[in-house]
Amino acid sequence: MTRAIDIHNHFFPEAWPDLAARYGTPNWPWIKHTEPGKAEIMVGDRFFRHIYSACWDPEVRLAEMERDGIDMQVMSATPVLFAYERPVEHALDCAQLFNDAELQLCARGNGRLKSLCQVPLQDIDASCKELSRCMRSGHLGVQIGNHVGEKNLDDPGIVTFLHHCADEGAAVLVHPWDMLGTQRMPKYMMPWTVGMPAETQLGIVAMILGGAFDKLPANLRICFAHGGGSFAFLLGRLENAWQHHPVAHGVCEQAPGSYVNRFYVDSAVFDERALKFLVETMGTDRVMLGSDYPFPLGEHRVGNLIRSSHLSPHSKEMLLGKNAQEFLGLKLDVPVSEPGLRQDPIVPQGEQLTYSSYLRVPELLELQHPQSRPQHHDEMLFIIVHQTYELWFKELLHDLDAVISNLQAAGGKAQLRDEVYEAARLLRRCTEITRVLVEQFTILETMLPTHFLAFRGKLEPASGFQSEQFRELEFLCGLKDEKMLRYHKPTPEAHAQLERRLREPSLRDAFFEALRAMGKLKIDDNATDRERFDARARAILSLYQDEHSNRDWIDVCERLTEFDELVVSWRLRHIQLVERVIGVRMGTGGSAGSSYLKLTLDKKFFPELWEARTLLTE
Ligand code: HEM
Repeated sequence: MTRAIDIHNHFFPEAWPDLAARYGTPNWPWIKHTEPGKAEIMVGDRFFRHIYSACWDPEVRLAEMERDGIDMQVMSATPVLFAYERPVEHALDCAQLFNDAELQLCARGNGRLKSLCQVPLQDIDASCKELSRCMRSGHLGVQIGNHVGEKNLDDPGIVTFLHHCADEGAAVLVHPWDMLGTQRMPKYMMPWTVGMPAETQLGIVAMILGGAFDKLPANLRICFAHGGGSFAFLLGRLENAWQHHPVAHGVCEQAPGSYVNRFYVDSAVFDERALKFLVETMGTDRVMLGSDYPFPLGEHRVGNLIRSSHLSPHSKEMLLGKNAQEFLGLKLDVPVSEPGLRQDPIVPQGEQLTYSSYLRVPELLELQHPQSRPQHHDEMLFIIVHQTYELWFKELLHDLDAVISNLQAAGGKAQLRDEVYEAARLLRRCTEITRVLVEQFTILETMLPTHFLAFRGKLEPASGFQSEQFRELEFLCGLKDEKMLRYHKPTPEAHAQLERRLREPSLRDAFFEALRAMGKLKIDDNATDRERFDARARAILSLYQDEHSNRDWIDVCERLTEFDELVVSWRLRHIQLVERVIGVRMGTGGSAGSSYLKLTLDKKFFPELWEARTLLTE
């Protein structure tokens, strides 16, 4: 059995000396604390990045690991601290400062935080010495940049350093930095989205073609961040050049593809199809959980991509932890965590699993904290009803994520219908849950309006507007409204999660993309929004018009329609409850209350499914 180990994430200490003053040179990174728990990393006068306390506070980090079911994180510094272009004595001193600070963080991590050090890679001797010092003091390896100025990873000095890493048993994480072509990428975060993948690919290709892997011992454990950048996707292109153009041959002994068993990549690719492809290209034993946590471009629920993927349980186990154990040289024997479960074993050794320990009943029953003093009897009901809704929202998100994956898989293979069946089956579950959610309001209606008003004042400014999961559900289904993010400013994690949902393909997208992949939906590139809408509605119409061939897809359409219908019922019942309890008064979230909520009744996730019905009767 293995653990869930995240091998790619970052830290910053809460404070460090003024490096510009210490070395007498400008433009060193420094930390500006802006408000409790939040800071900005500055480089000289230039803003570099927003960060929050998970970077420096082990308690915050451990709580989020707990939330995500992660047993261990192996932290590294951020490349902005590498200082490879500085005099070696400054870079070494800086490396030592951060390497030691990192160990201090680990010491407060209950054994669940480990570290990779950094070295002044512009000087190989100094790097080897610092690596050896760090390995003796408890680091598990080193994080290096993918190049040092003009030198790529096949540079003889860097190869010597990597040889030393193998001798020391140090794991090596290669992180892209100092991106090429930045003068053409001043905007839109392109150095991160375009430059980084290219840099990483360059690092791998240089090592392969430059013969570094042929010179290095097979026991070198080296991993490239961000799924190895664009390497896996363009390996075919590299092989083609290698086969047909002697000039592209480099000095390597074998074809490029045969080196994929010499290195690892992490899973930070943010797309299930990319992850699947990566595993197919690299092998199940070569991809490891890496999140880039806690930075804004990282995975916001660490491990979610792997866990929610359609990889086999065996592959998931390898990716979540087993491969990392090999990479890090750890020998552990603790079960893989699932999200929501705690790190500590459910059953203390020697005791039997019980109903209560399995379901965490004591912890669950600790979660109700009425605010009224003296405590108003009905506040407990108010809390429990809301918590129950949130639990069901969690299940809905869990199931709808799986529906999206099924639809994505189904689109690619029109003949195999298992995924379509599975999507319909899970959608049925979602409609049944939503039916219960509609009914549940009656319980709250047993509360007299006067009783609610007795403790309502204690709730402000908390409001249903801040239900992250409700908004996630809307975004996931396809109703994406960026403006609603403003209600989540007080909770950066929720904000970040919603931003991710905004970027990701929605259920609507996945459904129509599947129809497109099956050749049932064709949309002209120049089509207007109205024409696109009509084309989508007609694609649905065509499914219904050939019932015999499309039974399973029609079932999906029916389930989606029913879900849409039930969510509107939920909105309506919620309005009725609101009017029953507070009439037409304003909400605690500052909206006009029921008159605002009535505007949401027109919202539909899948308007084309309804339009198709109008078309059918034409
Ligand atoms: C006494 C009971 C309740 C009252 C008086 C109430 C009141 C309101 C009001 C006035 C709003 C509009 C936003 C604002 O200005 O605050 C709202 C929004 C919302 N409420 Fe409730 N609510 C109640 C119970 C519930 C329950 C049980 C849930 C279950 C999760 C819930 C979930 C929501 C959600 C998700 C929104 C945002 C809806 C949207 O933006 O479309 N509410 N509520």
